[in-house]
Amino acid sequence: MSNKALWGGRFKEPLADAALDFSTSIDVDQHLYKEDIAGSIAHVEMLSVCKILKASEARRIRTALRQIEKEIATGRFDLSRGFEDIHMAIEQRLIQKLGPLGGKLHTARSRNDQVALDERLFLRTAIREVAKLLTNLQRVLLYKSEKYFDAAMPGYTHVQRAQPVLLSHHLLAYVNMLERDYDRLMDCRKRANRSPLGAAAFAGSTFPIDRAMVARKLHFEGIVENSIDAVSDRDHLIEFVAACATTMMHLSRFAEELVYWSSKEFGFAHTSDAYTTGSSIMPQKKNPDMAELVRGKTGRVYGALVSLLTQMKGLPLAYNRDMQEDKVPLFDVYKTTRECLFIMSQILVHTTFDKEHMAEQLRTDYLTATDMADYLVRKGLPFRQAHEVTGRVVAHCISHRMFFGNLDLETLHTFSPAFETDVFEVILPHMSVGQKKSAGSTSPQEVKKQIVHWSRELKKRKLPKQ
Ligand code: ARG
Repeated sequence: MSNKALWGGRFKEPLADAALDFSTSIDVDQHLYKEDIAGSIAHVEMLSVCKILKASEARRIRTALRQIEKEIATGRFDLSRGFEDIHMAIEQRLIQKLGPLGGKLHTARSRNDQVALDERLFLRTAIREVAKLLTNLQRVLLYKSEKYFDAAMPGYTHVQRAQPVLLSHHLLAYVNMLERDYDRLMDCRKRANRSPLGAAAFAGSTFPIDRAMVARKLHFEGIVENSIDAVSDRDHLIEFVAACATTMMHLSRFAEELVYWSSKEFGFAHTSDAYTTGSSIMPQKKNPDMAELVRGKTGRVYGALVSLLTQMKGLPLAYNRDMQEDKVPLFDVYKTTRECLFIMSQILVHTTFDKEHMAEQLRTDYLTATDMADYLVRKGLPFRQAHEVTGRVVAHCISHRMFFGNLDLETLHTFSPAFETDVFEVILPHMSVGQKKSAGSTSPQEVKKQIVHWSRELKKRKLPKQ
């Protein structure tokens, strides 16, 4: 196909090969071909209703566009060389098929509003797909929370054993985090879901076009009012990437936990062989590489966010070619976030938790010290004094190489006369979680409430159609 530029009229020389090679974006933006064709069809139908094109012309253009879509989908249209971008490639092919009639498609339109439209259409799909995968991971976390409802484990602060918690409670914390991610995506969608088409280059069109009609045809909630803003705005891409970066941060924290929970030192989690890898030299190794890669890929997504923000920060209004660079980070973030959400669900499905081992860690430590201090407060000691007494009991146990389970009342009385036999109802680790009374705590009743809440929420979840 001839690669004479469609804008070639005022040029005496063709674009140098080096300039074309440098500036082409077809490798990247060819992924937008479906969006581009959907946008063009809506545009041409509107042009026909508004009597800017004849109905028969619009029909022929629409049919040819659908054929081109098939040609691309089946690899029959070679996009590999000579085109500036996907928008030009499709239009050139249209003109090749229809002759001068093909040249009418671009009436009342610019690539500036065209590319802005394609990206918004793409973003809507991306938001829906990421939201679907987020929801799926939430469901897997919920499933594991139900399955391990009776498992208690050490909870940590500063990576030091702190207090017993239910494993379910810990997993449900991630369900909450992912819910905020879901909300962020839906919030971003509200602003993304408006049509910029009809802004033309940036100043609007001299033709009596109906922008709202195009918006309706493409299921947008309305148009982007200001035509200058319509072609210059990439906020929605930044919001999407920022939302994905936050999701990746959440996944990375969980990945980090899975990595060390899988170590001999922790021994809490066991992921099946299918989701772990071996070492090329150390035959005994079984490594949590999938989780590590999720943690690693988080850096890529953060990089993409900084890249987009930096691309935009110096741009005067309206369109600038710099904006072509937005697609590389956008597509990479979309792909990476999807892959990571999916693999995390798979890892979790294929991971078992060692309840017995976790319970053993609770027995052989002092994680119920806070429960002992609270007990003394209930017996009348001020909290600070109770903290001090309990600290001394812990020091005693450490120096005698014993745990709370080995203490008797007589020994406890040497620290405070306030201790009575009922202290053993609170300081034994398996009793601790049941002692919690506050809303949202790790007590089985509160965790059960969370499970019921999330089962209901995730069951009724409705993803946007578009
Ligand atoms: N390939 C360009 C992009 O993705 C399309 C818009 C080009 N517009 C222009 N006036 N050069 O941004």
